[in-house]
Amino acid sequence: MQKTAVIKNEEWWKSGVIYQIYPRSFMDSNGDGVGDLQGVIEKLDYLNDGTERSLGIDAIWFSPIFPSPMADFGYDVSDYCDIHPLFGSLDTFDKLIAEAHRRAIKIILDFVPNHTSNLHPWFLESRSSRQNPKRDWYIWRDPKADGSLPNNWGSAFGGPAWEWDEQTGQYYLHSFLKEQPDLNWRNPQVKKAMLDVLRFWLERGVDGFRMDVIGMIMKDADLRDNPFLMGDTVSSDAANSYSQQKHLFDQDQDEVHNVIREIRKVLDEYPQRVGIGEVWYELPRWIKYYGANGDELQLPFNFRLMHVPWNARAVQGSVDEMEGALPDFAWSNYVLNNHDSPRLISKIGEAQARIAAMLLLTLRGTPTLYYGEELGMENTMINKDSMRDPQGFRLGREYSRDPGRNPMQWTGDRYAGFSTVEPWLPLAPDYQERNVQVESKDPVSLLSLYRKLIQLRKQQPALQVGSYRTIQVNSPDCFVFERELDNNRFLIALNFSAIAIDLQLPKFPGGKIFLSTYLDKNEALVSNDLKLRENEGVIIKIENTLHNHGMKNG
Ligand code: NOJ
Repeated sequence: MQKTAVIKNEEWWKSGVIYQIYPRSFMDSNGDGVGDLQGVIEKLDYLNDGTERSLGIDAIWFSPIFPSPMADFGYDVSDYCDIHPLFGSLDTFDKLIAEAHRRAIKIILDFVPNHTSNLHPWFLESRSSRQNPKRDWYIWRDPKADGSLPNNWGSAFGGPAWEWDEQTGQYYLHSFLKEQPDLNWRNPQVKKAMLDVLRFWLERGVDGFRMDVIGMIMKDADLRDNPFLMGDTVSSDAANSYSQQKHLFDQDQDEVHNVIREIRKVLDEYPQRVGIGEVWYELPRWIKYYGANGDELQLPFNFRLMHVPWNARAVQGSVDEMEGALPDFAWSNYVLNNHDSPRLISKIGEAQARIAAMLLLTLRGTPTLYYGEELGMENTMINKDSMRDPQGFRLGREYSRDPGRNPMQWTGDRYAGFSTVEPWLPLAPDYQERNVQVESKDPVSLLSLYRKLIQLRKQQPALQVGSYRTIQVNSPDCFVFERELDNNRFLIALNFSAIAIDLQLPKFPGGKIFLSTYLDKNEALVSNDLKLRENEGVIIKIENTLHNHGMKNG
């Protein structure tokens, strides 16, 4: 696989590294057990203080920080243009932007366009009577003639997607909780109000948005029934089950692309703003979210590495398939962890977490890290009493997203330096050994590796925006690829196995080890016979071949 299109370095969201903060769990500055914006401000130097001591990230994406009854921990917004008092105020936010920008850190907010909270004033008006001017801002329907639900759509959190409203005698649609009614984006007033929300934050200096379930904001105009994956023979219980249906009509409609183009136009009214989208679909449909000419999202999230079986062939297959399908104007991106999934390290183990880090930070595509990933934070076991996530309550504890939303581990002190009181979710039991303080002092910790990798990526434009080429090797357990820009070439070789491997590199001109995941200052010269230790990844600076070409031509 070869991707030679080299993208210019001028756009920060191509060359930079994004860091996701789940605000409730990052840093609590006021001792209420929940993280807040002042806490983030105090930790900005950890993220980027301009020196090699800090992590060196370029942008923070915040999961929602707006007023919300917190039925879905902020993904149920009751006011799009304010800050939840739990997290601070608009003043704290302005201070955050100023402090972040001073450190060359960009701020990306979470835009939740598919649904509001059921306590949003728009919905309160909408449900107050059938005649209310905002009635049509949401999706209301009568029951079918036989009294049954308007259609067979299910909620992603289980059960039907329809909730009966006694007072006005109709159902409303909610693709998630009944506390999250879906907005009607076919109504021009809704669209205008939501585009104005974007402008409100852009004016305040926000650098971009991550857009929650953006592919769901348009539904089939006739709200047709979804077909079932297994034919029609599902029990009535399962009939509304989200996972049993083919989501042909409740999301990913062709018309959504017109709306996203309008959103992009708003972003483009301001220089250098980025639109990132939560888009889960299969490759051919996912790619459409870049827009036919790159006029939609700059970065539809690529979640494939979170789910791929963790072996060299599957990981390489996923990268190559995606790179191969991307049009030249489109820029790729990679994610290993987020607030909706179990932490990857708990699946692949510590040794492979170092391979994952090197992979993420050397591929061609914008990396997004999730807070604590750089420390190797694991899932926290959650018992019935400590469970908070509505998805866990509705679908069963194994679906709870709490384990990966655990408080950040800053120090070995009580409550891990995250708070002075019991945090809202339990701390991981290993916080005394695994935390920022301990790992900062350890030159070979995972944190030290992340810092080093981010630093290298910053110093070497070839690793940021250079071309990508897979190298075929003699071991099925290794993924080897090359990055190149202006004749600066790097070879990345990743051993996905727990045994040492003797690799033969075809037509390799020689080079020198730049960085090993072992961080043991191995600067060995490498010929075409490369020995990788177990679970080792290396970045090799390939010998400059310009000179040789020059000789030949001369
Ligand atoms: C996707 C978000 O990432 C998730 O946390 C949330 O529950 C749903 N969308 C609903 O907003």
